[in-house]
Amino acid sequence: MKHFLNTQDWSRTELDGLLAEAARFKRRRLGDELEGRSIALVFFNSSMRTRTSFELGAFQLGGHAIVLQPGKDAWPIEFELGTVMEGDTEEHIAEVARVLARYVDLIGVRAFPKFVDWSVDRQDRVLQSFARYSTVPVINMETITHPCQELAHALALREHFGSDDLRGRKYVLTWTYHPKALNTAVANSALTIATRMGMDVTLLCPNEDYLLDERYLGWARDNVAENGGSFSVSHDIDSAYAGAHAVYAKSWGALPYFGDWEREKPVRDRYRHFIVDEAKMAMTDNAVFSHCLPLRRNVKATDAVMDSPACIAIDEAENRLHVQKAVMAALIAQPS
Ligand code: CP
Repeated sequence: MKHFLNTQDWSRTELDGLLAEAARFKRRRLGDELEGRSIALVFFNSSMRTRTSFELGAFQLGGHAIVLQPGKDAWPIEFELGTVMEGDTEEHIAEVARVLARYVDLIGVRAFPKFVDWSVDRQDRVLQSFARYSTVPVINMETITHPCQELAHALALREHFGSDDLRGRKYVLTWTYHPKALNTAVANSALTIATRMGMDVTLLCPNEDYLLDERYLGWARDNVAENGGSFSVSHDIDSAYAGAHAVYAKSWGALPYFGDWEREKPVRDRYRHFIVDEAKMAMTDNAVFSHCLPLRRNVKATDAVMDSPACIAIDEAENRLHVQKAVMAALIAQPS
């Protein structure tokens, strides 16, 4: 049984198949691929796009979605093995995942890092535990990566450039300032999918502290070896933006300071000028701009960039609906 935990677990042919199916769903909104089927959407964190697009996507394919928020409207869940559950958690993932799998046909999970100890968070324990105990396919709705966003992003880029072949395009993933230390998930994912598509990828970040986890840098290097393109790291804004065809913005906390955000904050505050603005976009080769959303205007990107014709963030957000329908349909259709 195949889960959808990371795009890196899926072959390029399979990803192309999902994107082609998503494009078809974009033209044909309704279907019966999930008729009589259901999905549990388990949210440990807030969402606007993910929740709306999964609920609607299931409905439009004839299925039904149930949203659960452990600790709010569902029992708090324990993930430690062998623990004496005398704390706040009321039931163990070993029961939760197996019981849900008796009710529904798919399980989606959103579980951000706890932002205390990266060596723990990088294990992606919540998602991996669901996958371990569930007897139905599990979908990553954003944990330490965001594979559904990756597909939506790739589809939006293909639509913008009018081609499924993104090779030869210079892609800049730029760190931006944000008042809070944010998840690295979308940055890990952007790096993963852009290198998977064979693009010439530059990771632009203020200094070495803002490099992403070695696992995802390794995936990027592996993808270049397999698909062509290139991957480099830059701390120089001008040369990174020069000649770019696509600019993707995201903020994230520096991993060496993980859990000690008071110490990281003054470091991060020195790099407010990484904001995506018209002057930087003018250095590109008429680049397209995007962001996963939500985005703080005039902090990560200016109003002028967000409101420019180059911005495809809304198209990318719409594509979440179509790609997730393709993922759900593919997982449901797999032989049991
Ligand atoms: N991009 C994204 O996942 O949006 P939400 O956090 O609103 O779901």
